[in-house]
Amino acid sequence: MPSSCCAPSGINDLDGTFDAASAAKEAKRFLKRGAVRRTLRLIRPLLAQPAPLASVLDIGCGAGAAHHELLRRGAATLAVGVDASAGYITAAAHNASVLGLRERTRYHQLDFALDAAQFEPAAAVIMDRVLCCYPNLEQLLRAAAERSTRFLALSFPRNNWWARLIGLAVNTFSAMGHGSYRFYIHPEPEILRIACAAGLLPVELSTFGFWRIAVFARTAPTPAAETLQSS
Ligand SMILES: C[S@@+](CC[C@H](N)C(=O)[O-])C[C@H]1O[C@@H](n2cnc3c(N)ncnc32)[C@H](O)[C@@H]1O
Repeated sequence: MPSSCCAPSGINDLDGTFDAASAAKEAKRFLKRGAVRRTLRLIRPLLAQPAPLASVLDIGCGAGAAHHELLRRGAATLAVGVDASAGYITAAAHNASVLGLRERTRYHQLDFALDAAQFEPAAAVIMDRVLCCYPNLEQLLRAAAERSTRFLALSFPRNNWWARLIGLAVNTFSAMGHGSYRFYIHPEPEILRIACAAGLLPVELSTFGFWRIAVFARTAPTPAAETLQSS
């Protein structure tokens, strides 16, 4: 069973916004058609590695598409999925079972920005469409970057007028329904600064529709082993 011992703080209503119904829908879609093109683009440098990554930490993993794709293609050995949403963690664990990957996965429902200390470093840390759900960029991104021994793969919204307009529409819609969820477009220079301060260098910066893709690699290996917490 996925771990849900440490219920998330409820910040930005992530558990309420990313509910079981949307999780089930995304999980079903993945089983039918695999990862969407944005996710495939994000993990492309990881798929291109000559040997499987020992471990992957997929933060805000949703229904698990990024790490399920890496595991089933033989590009990673083990994966830990973390999400603040109970519905998404359940969906990711379910899909892992269906795909025969359950023995190679661990799941935790928590707010990674608050509980990162309990996680061992991983060869690759992924955050696909996650930074835009979290108000405190520095707290979340620094924690994620510090836990990568080799790669950090991020997708986040681009910061142009029409992307900001879409963000405004999402937030207006949420506020009109009395929702507390807010969508954030964090400044890209700030994202680059935080990742670089953690010893990572960008190896890919590109645009994919609404999204920016940024993949970083560690300049010098950390002494930490590429292991992940087992639970
Ligand atoms: C838009 S969804 C993306 C899910 C998946 N990565 C994908 O691209 O399909 C964002 C997910 O990030 C999770 N999330 C955001 N901030 C988080 C945090 N600090 N800790 C854990 N999960 C977080 C949300 O609960 C949500 O499920």
